[in-house]
Amino acid sequence: MGILKDCINNKKTESIPIWFMRQAGRYLPEFREIRSQNTDFINLCLNPKLSKEITLQPLRRFSIDAAIIFSDILFIPYALGQRVEFKKNLGPELGDLDINNILSISDEQIINKLKPIYELIKITSTDKELKNKDLIGFIGGTWTLFLYMINKKSPKNKISKDIYTKENLDDIIKKIIHTQKLHIKYQVENGASIIQIFDSWAGLIKKDKVDKFIYQPTKELVEYTKSLNVEVICFPRNINSYTEYCNIVKPSAVNIDYQVDPENIVENIEIPVQGGMDPKYLLLERNEMLKNAKKYLEIFKNHKYIFNLGHGVMPETNPESIAALVDFVKDFK
Ligand code: CP3
Repeated sequence: MGILKDCINNKKTESIPIWFMRQAGRYLPEFREIRSQNTDFINLCLNPKLSKEITLQPLRRFSIDAAIIFSDILFIPYALGQRVEFKKNLGPELGDLDINNILSISDEQIINKLKPIYELIKITSTDKELKNKDLIGFIGGTWTLFLYMINKKSPKNKISKDIYTKENLDDIIKKIIHTQKLHIKYQVENGASIIQIFDSWAGLIKKDKVDKFIYQPTKELVEYTKSLNVEVICFPRNINSYTEYCNIVKPSAVNIDYQVDPENIVENIEIPVQGGMDPKYLLLERNEMLKNAKKYLEIFKNHKYIFNLGHGVMPETNPESIAALVDFVKDFK
């Protein structure tokens, strides 16, 4: 366990904790090398030896404080028997939703399908390369998963209105939450020291639906994770009000996106904050990039803060830029 956990628990840390969403991925040549020989993304994630290697790759390059398991949020629909495919440059594509089938899947069937992920966590969390570092497990938010399962692909910026009136809607949501809890439990039992909840499409919800589809399910998942004595970081990307979200959902820490004003966050939110910087800055000239990092470091100087981005590292990023950013954050006083 490492300084991420310390920071979330309000303990003093020697430096500002830092890690990156999508720190393992296509911007790293060593990832592309493995990926080129493993064209099926699902099979790659479900190969514990290779997914462990990919999980550890960024830690060998950068002095970061945590690893995040190499997996995907769409393993929940996959475990529920929905077809999931990742097509090159097209993003994920899901099969038709067979409601009766999904509702009849047993816990044992779910766990069986996800077993390689727990094996990945087990062999990674006990590896000496993770000594004094945290291993982050994760799930997608209930709303984001439901959206993918109905929409069957990434929703771009609009969703159809009938999403809120789907037949058997309450049963599907219940089944997703139940599966999320199982997935959290097994990740924690196998060595995940922190859980992050990625609600990537929280920004697309209709205002009067946010309580039912986001606040209530996430609150339940947060309480559940805390009951396992594990910290939970929530990332409700582009949510209308981070303040209201934190007051109701009560995560251990909150990851902010790059569009929200950090000054407003620091004034209104008491819990530890993670992230914020626009990943596009990593594509700019070094001083320009560091100037933006400094902005976040200064704003959160007297607040518990974990350095990260406002969304994932982009595939076009030069790993040297990440290295420079990590050095800068680690030297910041
Ligand atoms: O390093 C890490 O952060 C850990 C691994 C990780 C992946 N996906 C691997 C991945 C994590 C935490 C995720 C979460 C995830 N997956 C989210 C939430 C975070 C976010 O980005 O908003 C979402 C919405 C997904 C669904 C998903 N998976 C999409 C939309 C795509 C295609 C677009 C893309 O970014 O490539 C994926 C595929 C995916 N998941 C890749 C990786 C490394 C790319 C696969 C490849 O090599 O082609």
